[in-house]
Amino acid sequence: MATDPNTFTSILSESREFTPDPEFSAQAHVPSFEAYQALYQEAADDLEAFWDKQAKAHLHWFTPWKTILKWEPPFAQWFVEGRINASYNCLDRHLETPRKNKAALIWEGEDGSSQIFTYQTLHYEVCRFANVLKDLNVKIGDRVILYMPMIPELAIATLACARIGATHSIIFGGFSAEAIKDRVEDAQAKVVITANGGRRRGQIVPLKDTVNKALEQVDCVEHVVVVDHLADSDFDTPPAITPRDVKWHERMAEAELDCPAEELPAEHPLFILYTSGTTGRPKGVVHSTGGYLLGATYTSKLVFDLKEEDTYWCTADIGWITGHSYIIYGILSNGATSVMYEGAPNYPEPDRFWKIIDKYRVSIFYTAPTAIRAFMKWGDEWPLKHDLSSLRLLGTVGEPINPEAWMWYHKVIGQESCPIVDTWWQTETGAMMIAPLPGATPTVPGTATLPLPGIIPQIVDAEGKPVPQGQGGYLTIQKPWPSMLRTVYGDDERFKEQYWSKFKDVYFTGDGARQDERGYYWVMGRVDDVINVSGHRLGTMEIESALVSHAQVTEAAVVSRPHDIKGEAIVAFVTLEGNLKASDALKDTLKAHVVEEIGALARPEEIIFTDVLPKTRSGKIMRRLLRDIACGRVAQGDTSTLEDSSVLDQLRQSD
Ligand code: WT7
Repeated sequence: MATDPNTFTSILSESREFTPDPEFSAQAHVPSFEAYQALYQEAADDLEAFWDKQAKAHLHWFTPWKTILKWEPPFAQWFVEGRINASYNCLDRHLETPRKNKAALIWEGEDGSSQIFTYQTLHYEVCRFANVLKDLNVKIGDRVILYMPMIPELAIATLACARIGATHSIIFGGFSAEAIKDRVEDAQAKVVITANGGRRRGQIVPLKDTVNKALEQVDCVEHVVVVDHLADSDFDTPPAITPRDVKWHERMAEAELDCPAEELPAEHPLFILYTSGTTGRPKGVVHSTGGYLLGATYTSKLVFDLKEEDTYWCTADIGWITGHSYIIYGILSNGATSVMYEGAPNYPEPDRFWKIIDKYRVSIFYTAPTAIRAFMKWGDEWPLKHDLSSLRLLGTVGEPINPEAWMWYHKVIGQESCPIVDTWWQTETGAMMIAPLPGATPTVPGTATLPLPGIIPQIVDAEGKPVPQGQGGYLTIQKPWPSMLRTVYGDDERFKEQYWSKFKDVYFTGDGARQDERGYYWVMGRVDDVINVSGHRLGTMEIESALVSHAQVTEAAVVSRPHDIKGEAIVAFVTLEGNLKASDALKDTLKAHVVEEIGALARPEEIIFTDVLPKTRSGKIMRRLLRDIACGRVAQGDTSTLEDSSVLDQLRQSD
């Protein structure tokens, strides 16, 4: 592999700097560092005036707002009394322009099939499906769950919900029946939309079977809409039909064409997206319509330097926030072309992504560090087989990117001629927060660089005081921003407690960070009990609860250890009931149990059985010590608070 070896010096101090190419800058929305600084200053001087201007410039409003921001910490309302529709902004407003017949969505199936929707034909599908939902008695504010493969119907259903003011909640297709049940019940969803199955790495993902199982004991769901994505002959046993089921294609054939977009209040909840936190139960992050759409639209334009001529591809699943903001809302709202791919990156061969870029002449490519590390491992020959010269910009998201992966991305994929935007943000922030502007900001491998205009971060100590430059601390956001989450669905108290209780009236991200001499932010990762496996967020307590729900487990403690490809891998310490004997078979059973409870993404890499777990006198599990053991380091540091210090010796010997 023709890549740099992993050198320690490059991790400890990164001095490689890449200044924007003048040719790129000349055509960019923000063409110089001075222009970025001026914009940042303009925003910082008067945040409300800045966002007022951006909201007018980027979005179509049916009715203008009367108040820009109502801030009753921690509750924000943006563009109060303004009326807007996200589907109208992503579709209808383009129909009056020459964009009407350009590709809005290019879809590629894993089997090589492809479908292209223009803005006009996507509008047509969305209007009809919106009428299908209305016929199923879905009303403004009702919750609709989407558990679907990466197929065009997922984008259509999302925009149809937005059109009629139904709040969508998309569940990633890798989650288990148990996880779906929790979310459907928490959201009290009226309708679930799914497909008979999806394709992944040549296999069939039986989504409808999983939904059937999830809904066995659920009352709130009136209908399940099923897309027949696969033929019956693809299945050994086609999924069972239940009395609640209706067929997507049958309903669509009968649906009316005309469906005007609802004029919704700016604060109307556009969607709920469940994400892991520090307690056992995932939380429903609630996003607004106006503020969220502004965040997604404005950041797409600035950070991707997005133009309507761009063919843009984000490889995330729409089940994550990245797909919401940067496959659907931010991209279509800007009138660009969004590529969507159903399957795995290495199917049928490890060059599938590069083939897709070549085939559609993709100009902007957004992926995750974990994927980049896998591509590096598979070897340079796969991308080198294809013509990647259509690319003009690369992006990454999901976790800190190690400088080696950044350099490989730059050299092998970007052919040293594409700026890389490393974008820091979260499900809760709705849109990118810290990221370079590609025509303006010099980039350095490993850092997301500087905050976007309108975003005011600060790194603070445990008391909330700013730390000196260069010192690590907690990453906070000091002022409200339009695309911030509004609450945790049905649980304002949890919202306050999770994000606003550590520092008064200041948003706590859960991340640790430091700023270097030039003010660039280096995000180090989570400082709470959340781990990041392949860019997916998992709560250690969530995995622990799953383990403890198994009859043979007494207690469990979950930590992570660094992993070459995944970033972090899950290691679970487990104590067993009574005199049960530890065995490899039991390890496999417990791993399968976690998959059953949460989904394959939470499968522990390793299970270590132990008679006892190290605890403080107050009963708190000492995860730091477990982490040391999981990483093969001798447990060091302060153990004076350990209740029983012989635990450590036992743990080191246990397996
Ligand atoms: C957490 C948010 C934002 C969409 C994908 C993940 C980590 C995300 C970066 C980055 C360093 C990053 C943080 C953050 N993270 N992007 N560019 N550099 N860390 O969304 O599941 O809500 O996770 O991912 O730890 O808090 P999420």
